[in-house]
Amino acid sequence: MSTPSVTVPLFTAHNGFALPAIGLGTYGLNGEAGAAAVTTALGAGYRLVDSAFNYENEGSVGRGVADADVDRAQIIVTTKLPGRHHRTERARTSIEESRFRLGLDATDLHLIHWPNPSQDEYVQAWSALVDARSRGTVRQIGVSNFLPEHLERVERETGVRPVVNQIEVHPYFPQEDQLAYHRDRGIITEAWSPLGRGRELLEEPVIVEVAAAHGITAAQAVLAWHVARGTVAIPKAASLEHQISNLAAASVQLEDAEVAAISALGRPDGRLFDGDPRTHEES
Ligand SMILES: NC(=O)c1ccc[n+]([C@@H]2O[C@H](COP(=O)([O-])OP(=O)(O)OC[C@H]3O[C@@H](n4cnc5c(N)ncnc54)[C@H](OP(=O)(O)O)[C@@H]3O)[C@@H](O)[C@H]2O)c1
Repeated sequence: MSTPSVTVPLFTAHNGFALPAIGLGTYGLNGEAGAAAVTTALGAGYRLVDSAFNYENEGSVGRGVADADVDRAQIIVTTKLPGRHHRTERARTSIEESRFRLGLDATDLHLIHWPNPSQDEYVQAWSALVDARSRGTVRQIGVSNFLPEHLERVERETGVRPVVNQIEVHPYFPQEDQLAYHRDRGIITEAWSPLGRGRELLEEPVIVEVAAAHGITAAQAVLAWHVARGTVAIPKAASLEHQISNLAAASVQLEDAEVAAISALGRPDGRLFDGDPRTHEES
C-alpha cells in the first residue's frame, strides 16, 4: 500500500466525521481515462473523491478506487442522489444503484444533489438517506446546494442534521453568510467549482500577486484561500501535474490580509451560471 507524503488538514463535522481539506472533483472524468485519473490522484495522496449519479461516472470512480494501491478504508467516496429520484421508493433504489455502480459495499458519503424546492420532495430523499445509513449501506449523509431553510426543514422533520453541504464557493462567490451558518452548526462546507472552473479567475491580479509572494501558482493561491476559510475544496483535475499541485496547496498558509484581498473579488452575481438553489433545479 502506498503512503502519501502529503499532509492535508482535516475539517470535522458535528458528529466527528472528518474530511480532508482537498478532494478530487470528477465532473467530466469518465470511462477509462476517468478511472485512471482517479487512480493517479489516490496514488498522489487524495483520500476524498467526489462523483454523482448524474455525472455518469460512478463506474469510473469505482474502478479508479479498485485499481488504486490504497487501503479502501482510508478513502471517502462521495456520490449524489439526482432530483428525479427524490420520492421515497425511487430514492431507495437510486441509492442502491449508485452503490452497485461504484462497486462498493457502502458509499462513504451520499448527498442530495439539489433541493429542487418546487418539486418539494427533498425531505423524502433525506429520509431515504437516513434509512440507508441505518442499514449500513451508506456511511455518512449530507446535501448539496441547500439553503439554510432547506437544512432547517430536513433536520426539523427527521431529527437528523446533514454532515456536509456541498455548495458553489470561489473568490467571485465567497458565500460568507452561508459558511458562517454551517460553521455554527458543525456542517462541513464543501466548495464546488473551487477554481471557478479554471478560467479568468486564475488571471485576477490579486490572485497572481498572492501566488507570486508565496512562489506558488494562481490555482494554489485560490485553494489555499479555501483552506484558510475552513472549506473543503474539490478541484477537478485530469492531469497528475494539476492533481499534485492542487493537493500541495493544502499546506500553504496565507496571511489574513491575503485571504481578505481575495475575498474582496466576491460579488452578489458571482455565480458561474444561474445556479441559485431557490430557482435552479436539476433532474
Ligand atoms: N454539487 C454540485 O452541484 C456541483 C456542481 C459543479 C461541480 N461539482 C463538483 O465540483 C467539482 C469541481 O468543480 P468544477 O469541475 O466545476 O470546476 P473547478 O474544479 O473549479 O475547475 C476545473 C477546471 O480547472 C482546471 N484545473 C484544475 N487544476 C488546475 C491547476 N492547478 N491549474 C490550472 N487549471 C486547473 C481543470 O483542468 P484539468 O482537468 O485539465 O486539470 C478544469 O478545467 C466537479 O468536478 C464536481 O465533482 C458539484
